Amino acid sequence: MDLIVKNGRVVWPDVTLEVDLAIDDGKIAGIGHAGAFPKADRFIDAAGKFVVPGGVDPHTHIHAPFMGATAKDDFDTGTMAAAIGGTTTVIDFAFQQKGKLPMDAIEARRKEADGKVVIDYALHSNLVAASDEAIAQIPRIIADGIPSFKFFMVYRKEELMIDDGNLIPLIEVINNNGGLAGCHTENVAIIEHLQAEAIRKGNRSPIYHALTRPPLNEAEALNRALFISKYLGAAFYDYHLSVKEGVDLVREARREGRPVYCETTTHYLTLTEDMLKRPDGLNFICSPPLRSREHIEALWQGLADGTISAVASDQAAFTLEHKRMGKDSFDKVPNGLPGMEFRVPILFSEGVQKGRISINRMAAVTSTNVAKIFGLYPKKGAIQVGSDADLVIIDPKAEKKITIDDCPYKIDWSPFDGMKLQGSPVMTISKGKVVAENGKFVGKAGAGEFVKAKISEEILKRPAA
Ligand code: URP
Ligand code: ZN
Repeated sequence: MDLIVKNGRVVWPDVTLEVDLAIDDGKIAGIGHAGAFPKADRFIDAAGKFVVPGGVDPHTHIHAPFMGATAKDDFDTGTMAAAIGGTTTVIDFAFQQKGKLPMDAIEARRKEADGKVVIDYALHSNLVAASDEAIAQIPRIIADGIPSFKFFMVYRKEELMIDDGNLIPLIEVINNNGGLAGCHTENVAIIEHLQAEAIRKGNRSPIYHALTRPPLNEAEALNRALFISKYLGAAFYDYHLSVKEGVDLVREARREGRPVYCETTTHYLTLTEDMLKRPDGLNFICSPPLRSREHIEALWQGLADGTISAVASDQAAFTLEHKRMGKDSFDKVPNGLPGMEFRVPILFSEGVQKGRISINRMAAVTSTNVAKIFGLYPKKGAIQVGSDADLVIIDPKAEKKITIDDCPYKIDWSPFDGMKLQGSPVMTISKGKVVAENGKFVGKAGAGEFVKAKISEEILKRPAA
């Protein structure tokens, strides 16, 4: 054996057991007692710590261009940060560019990431134009290992929006070919109407970003997307859910037995719209916007009761300089927040340690469910013999205050700055190799690979994660 992790409390979505794990050739080779395993080259003592499946982040925008800025991270520094924070696989986006086809975006993204990523990655295809040629590429994209898609129901001015007329054939063809369609659900007409009114009245400060995107605007678009997918008999994934009305809609759809899934993000679970009223409020602009405390509580409830399947970072590493592009008007600020390195630590500290979710539920929503929904399971998201040995060791006693000092992608601010963490990942193992230890990256650039995904029939036919 290459490695034995012993004495830890090993966590699965349904149980926690004190067992040892043997790892060989990058895979989990045994689960039981170290004495019964063949001799190993290295032992890691995880006494007093949790051993959880390596995090799978379902939503990152590494080094992505958006609203006139390009995110500061890169596929090496970004995935280093993810690894430090207990994530061993990221699912990023291949963003179709104007005048080009979705497969061009996939090729370009693969070129950007391959040889640089330090942990494994997969991709979603993000179509922004539904030409016949683009739609014709969908079966091939799915067959090539990219079965999940994202469409923006907003960002009309930015020319990224897919309207309902185009959404229908897109979801239909994705569903007919074993893929999973999903949307960024906001109602463009409400937003444009409220933005025009705010700007006419000279209301351009950051809080107007939230005031022009009220909760019902998100709920309406989600409801519409749910009805469209119901009409088509298709599975559906809601990206970055932020409102309590949306939790209710998803809960109801899943109660009906429909294959509906949704994620929320670390920031919607912890930060309120009051951040937008601070002097540095423009930094906190993301879409959907940060919400009030009652939405935060509903999201935690949805996470605990099984309505919300996953927690994403929605990593978008815009710097203070990028954010200042909108210093005179909220609608010019590049939308998005950095912080994929804090997704697992915050879920553990704010969720498990505060009694909002169990450690088992944390393993499900940060890893296992994501791998299942997006067709990476059981290679990823599983502690099973034969699965990739992607593991995170969490010390529940490690106290930490969030700072940006050690961030590999050298961002100059964090929305979570100053947050106190009770418990943190102290070691991350990717494919059997230690890649991060005590907040430092110790792995190798280029050690990660693209992972082809294939979504199971079970996920596409009923709420199975
Ligand atoms: O504000 C956000 N979420 N920015 C990233 C792009 C997107 O909408 O996912
Ligand atoms: Zn989005």
